[in-house]
Parts: sequence; structure tokens; C-alpha cells
Amino acid sequence: MSAAPLTVALLGGGTVGAQVARLLLEQSADLEARVGAPLQLVGVAVRDTAKPREGIPSDLITDDAAELISRGSDIVVEVMGGIEPARSLILQAMAAGSSVITANKALLAADGATLYQAAEESGVDLYFEASVAGAIPLLRPLRESLAGDRVMKVLGIVNGTTNFILSKMDEEGADYADVLAQAQELGYAEADPTADVGGLDAAAKAAILAELAFHTRVTFDDVSCEGITDVTSADVEAARAMGFVIKLLAVAERTPDGSGVIVRVHPAMVPRDHPLASVRDAFNAVFVEAEAAGEMMFYGRGAGGAPTASAVLGDVVAAARNRVSGGRGPGESTYADLPVRPISEALTRYYVNLDVADRPGVLAAIANAFAANGVSIQVVRQDGHGDDAGLVVRTHLASDGALSRTVDELRSLDAVKEVLGVMRVEGEAGA
Ligand SMILES: NC(=O)c1ccc[n+]([C@@H]2O[C@H](COP(=O)([O-])OP(=O)(O)OC[C@H]3O[C@@H](n4cnc5c(N)ncnc54)[C@H](OP(=O)(O)O)[C@@H]3O)[C@@H](O)[C@H]2O)c1
Repeated sequence: MSAAPLTVALLGGGTVGAQVARLLLEQSADLEARVGAPLQLVGVAVRDTAKPREGIPSDLITDDAAELISRGSDIVVEVMGGIEPARSLILQAMAAGSSVITANKALLAADGATLYQAAEESGVDLYFEASVAGAIPLLRPLRESLAGDRVMKVLGIVNGTTNFILSKMDEEGADYADVLAQAQELGYAEADPTADVGGLDAAAKAAILAELAFHTRVTFDDVSCEGITDVTSADVEAARAMGFVIKLLAVAERTPDGSGVIVRVHPAMVPRDHPLASVRDAFNAVFVEAEAAGEMMFYGRGAGGAPTASAVLGDVVAAARNRVSGGRGPGESTYADLPVRPISEALTRYYVNLDVADRPGVLAAIANAFAANGVSIQVVRQDGHGDDAGLVVRTHLASDGALSRTVDELRSLDAVKEVLGVMRVEGEAGA
């Protein structure tokens, strides 16, 4: 026999919220069986109560989120987005004894610590599986399944908009601006795409992943972030010629000596035979390397109303089961307290694309510039065309600082007409 109903309040009835409401109502019998108590949706807070909302009974809609929270539901689901009023409402909900489920990566990456602390003080759950990589079960594996292992690196494609743009540039040889316009027409990119193409959305997710992977507090400001706006069709073509594809990656790793962590978001060349290379269009995938488990990849839909709602509902069931059993899920784990180090300390391989004069001695001068700065060359590819020649260099592992000094020296050489592109290379064996 089921226990008394557990009440659920929903903050937000938009793309994700409407699907959460639909699944809660449509799957109520299965959810009740899985939880051991019925889940009762008691209200949906929105801004505009006059907007038609398919699937949400109109008597549940309210524009008074604070009043809805004050009813003291067992579970409050926050899918409004933004920092405020979302943060204040979540804190109000926890103070009222509600467990909170949120998909709000921006808030978690900016001020997750405040939310964790409030959850701890009130003895309630805080779950946020949907905040990174939409439908893909990823945070629970990091937080729970891998809690007995030592994660070394997390490498992922966590932004569908930029992956769609880069996939199209790769498949069609199209320019960035044309593909962005196409993505906006198809609804894959916002009218203001800055958060996506500037890497900010991926950086928020990288902070959340890093915190869980390394048991260390990481916020949005700790993440080195570079978007895809400077990726050219020439970079894409050069990558293709070398058997690589360009992806916007979120990377969280331990420093080479293991004493800190580095968290970065930037475009990178990935070998075409790496599992991340075949992640096309708006899909997400995250590659995790752990000491004992080895390599794992998590793949699926990273956004969209229903996929994201699936992750939210999984959290609702987990929090509801805890209510029924009287237990609690895991809280914040930042005991490792590792310092977050700057990207300049990361060791990566690089690709450098140069426009050089086509005359004897040029190759030697360029090789000297790399050697003088301690950057060792792995591969050189040369395309001659008239007086000019294209020279593409791939390096062995080097620090950001050494590479920057090399590029400065290359720019000062007579033999180098222009440095056409510099990009990190990730995912090569041993890299
Ligand atoms: N969309 C995705 O694929 C996706 C994926 C992963 C995570 N997320 C996260 O999920 C959250 C929601 O995203 P979404 O795409 O569903 O956003 P959305 O479509 O813009 O919906 C936001 C909802 O919140 C309501 N709202 C906003 N501010 C409010 C306020 N001050 N008071 C009351 N209601 C308010 C809106 O009301 P009105 O409808 O009246 O405007 C709307 O119903 C965000 O944190 C986002 O980052 C989204």
C-alpha cells in the first residue's frame, strides 16, 4: 500500500517545465509504484498566467512563486532559469523543508555553495542532474557510482548549439557566420547566441562537472573560457586534412603533478577515431577517465524539453524515495580542496597553421623557433602554392606559456607571413 501523497511544486512552465508537468501527470501510476507514494503536482509558477500552456491544467498555474513555495511542498522543482529570483526562491523552499531539484547550471556554477549549505542546514536534498548534458545520466555516476574511484580527467561536448555549428562547418565546408544563421533559423541557436558560442554555457557545466569529479569547489569564474567565434573554415579544413575534427570541449583535469585542477573550455582538434569526434549535431557526450575504471563515455541528448525533463523526473523520484524512506541523498563533497590552477599550466598538444614564404631555409627557421622555446614538433605538413606555402605544425605536449612564446617568435620571423591559426589538440593517445 502506498504512503500519503508527496506534493511537488514546479517553478517554471516553459520548455522544460511543461514537459516535467506532462510526465508527472501522464506517468503518475508508474511514478507512484516506483516511489511508494503518489506524486501530486500542486502548482506551476510562471510569469504570464495568460499564456496558453498545453498539458498543464490551468487551475495549477500561478504567478506567485513565493506563495506556491510557502505551501511547503515535499519537492520543489526549479526550471525558471537565471540567478534571481531562482536563488531566493530555492532558499525559501529549503527553509520551508522542501527538497529541491534544479536544472539551473548558471546558478549552480555561480553560487552552488550557498545552495548546498542551505540544503545541509535544512536537512533536505539538492539534485541537479539536468543542469549538465540534459538527459544524459552523468552527474549521478560521477557523484555516486564513481565515488570509490579517482577521476583523472573529464572531457566533453556539453553544448549542443556549438556542436551543431561545428558539425555543419565540418560537413559542408561552410563559414561560421553562415552556419550560425542557419542554426538560428532552425531554432538550434538563440537570437543572442553569446552564452553558447562564447563558451559561457559550457563553462558553467564544466565548473559543475569539475566540482563533482574532483571533490573541490569550482565556480564559473575559475573556468578558462574561449568560444568558437574565431574558428575559421580554414581551421576546419586543416583539421580535416590531418584526420581531425574541431569540437568545443569542456575539460576538467588534475594538474600534471596532481596538486591542483585545471578547468577549461575551448575549441580543440580531436582525432577522427576518438569517440567524441563522432558526436554530431546537437548531441552531447562526456568522456571520463578514472584511475580504476579506465575510460567511459556518456552520450545522448543534451537539451530539449522532454530529454531534460527525463533527468528532472529521475531526480524527483530519487528525492521522493528519500522522503518515503526517511533518508537523504549525498550533499556537497569538497573535502579535497584542490587549488584551481590557470590554463597556462595545462600541458596540451597544439596545431599551428602558418602562411610562410616558399624559399630554402624557411622550414629550418621555423623548427628553430619551436626548439628555442622547448616545444617539440610531432608532425609538419606543407602545401606549396606559388610564392606562398602553407605549413601546418602539430606539437608534442607543451605548456600554454611555451606555445605563446613560440608563436610570438614565429610572428617576428621574415619567413612567416602570417600565423593563420593556433588550436589545442585533445584526445590523442597519450595526450
Ligand atoms: N531548454 C533546455 O533544453 C534546457 C536543458 C538543460 C537545462 N535547462 C535549464 O532549465 C531551466 C529552464 O529552461 P527552459 O528552456 O525551460 O526556459 P524557458 O522555456 O524560458 O522557461 C522558463 C519558465 O520559467 C518561468 N519564469 C521565468 N522567470 C520567472 C519568474 N521570475 N517568476 C515566475 N516564473 C518565471 C517562465 O514563465 P513564462 O512562461 O510566463 O515566461 C517560463 O515558464 C534553465 O535553468 C535552463 O538553463 C534547459
